Amino acid sequence: MLGGASAEPVKTKPRVVATPLVGRGKELEDLERRWQSASSGPGSFVVISAEPGAGKTTLVKSFTSSLTAAGSALVATGRCTERLGSGEAYLPFLGALTELANSARGALVRTVLRNKAPTWFVQLFPASSSDASYEQIRRELTGGSQERMKRELADALAEISRSYAVCLALEDLHWSDLATTELVAYLSRRLHELRLLVVGTLRPAELASANHPLRSILLDMQAHGAAFEMPLALLTKRDISDYLDLEFAGHRFPKEFGPWLSAKTEGNALFLVDLLRYLVERGAVVKAARWELVRPIEELSGEIPASVRALIERILGLLSEDERRWLTVAAVQGRRSTLSRSRRSRKWTSSVSRRLSKTSTVCIGWSRPEAKRSFPTDPSPSCTNSSTSSTRKPSTGP
Ligand SMILES: Nc1ncnc2c1ncn2[C@@H]1O[C@H](COP(=O)(O)OP(=O)(O)OP(=O)(O)O)[C@@H](O)[C@H]1O
Ligand SMILES: [Mg+2]
Repeated sequence: MLGGASAEPVKTKPRVVATPLVGRGKELEDLERRWQSASSGPGSFVVISAEPGAGKTTLVKSFTSSLTAAGSALVATGRCTERLGSGEAYLPFLGALTELANSARGALVRTVLRNKAPTWFVQLFPASSSDASYEQIRRELTGGSQERMKRELADALAEISRSYAVCLALEDLHWSDLATTELVAYLSRRLHELRLLVVGTLRPAELASANHPLRSILLDMQAHGAAFEMPLALLTKRDISDYLDLEFAGHRFPKEFGPWLSAKTEGNALFLVDLLRYLVERGAVVKAARWELVRPIEELSGEIPASVRALIERILGLLSEDERRWLTVAAVQGRRSTLSRSRRSRKWTSSVSRRLSKTSTVCIGWSRPEAKRSFPTDPSPSCTNSSTSSTRKPSTGP
């Protein structure tokens, strides 16, 4: 828990309204280009890949909202969820189809599903498919016919896309169930019949650490020109400065504040948004006549918002013992080094960072306090010695 007896009183309520989008112009243009091409066929897949909190969902939402607003396409989103057990087969597709079936063009979608994809129809609308023929299908489904389901969905999408181009956003594919993964592979072979753009998001480190079968399927799709990876860059200093200008309009922050945020968050959007929210909660950023930073920057380091801590724990859980050791050394070096700004230290830190997956570099930033802490310290351990052993990968190196 953050906060405690000596915590500063909250001076301004944190703002939890939708945050402005910065720095994604190129990606949105790219998605728009891919949509133009997919919507006249053949279809294609775009996979937006980046570390947790980099802004994948935000980018996809911004893109799909623009398509929805334009009104000429069928747009829906389905999500994979992290499963402890086997999970529901085809979960993101079922979610997306439900959304399509409830959209303004839901009548068309329901009719096509009923005619072309009855096995999907009975799953999506059990109440409205109670006649004898659907009973028969339901019985067949018990035995499970995944081949049939894949074929039916492709047939239905082909039929729908004769009237409307379709965009499906499939979120968090690193958690996709096997049936979904196979369906993605199947659809990729029928893209020539479809006016369909699938925009997927995934965390590459999680895909790799789980040795997920989707990884090789996507590589194969890429090799055949059916899928394109869009690695999402972290926010630049310029993006962060734009964010401050938009979110804290008219602010009078010192000019070092943006670069400090950039160093502290490494440009991870979630870390940025949460750190700023945290600084507002702690009364370090306040709105008087204008938004101001009322503490010296040197006093701001050392604390980690709870959400950021949780994410770092998750990232650490994916590292091997070796990588964790490197990270610990990096953090200690950062602490000892009053020279964190010296060339030698920067060179050293970046050589360590290269040894780690990119997602871990932010931990170094968080464990390198520039000065003494001004906020009360959480008694729980810092990010480099947090306990994540349950999901930790085994050591691979010497
Ligand atoms: N380009 C951006 N400009 C401003 N804020 C952003 C941007 N991208 C993301 N954010 C903010 O960062 C937070 C995290 O973003 P988002 O949920 O999109 O990350 P993600 O990559 O989908 O993470 P996860 O892997 O956990 O799903 C959100 O609160 C969002 O408002
Ligand atoms: Mg997301």
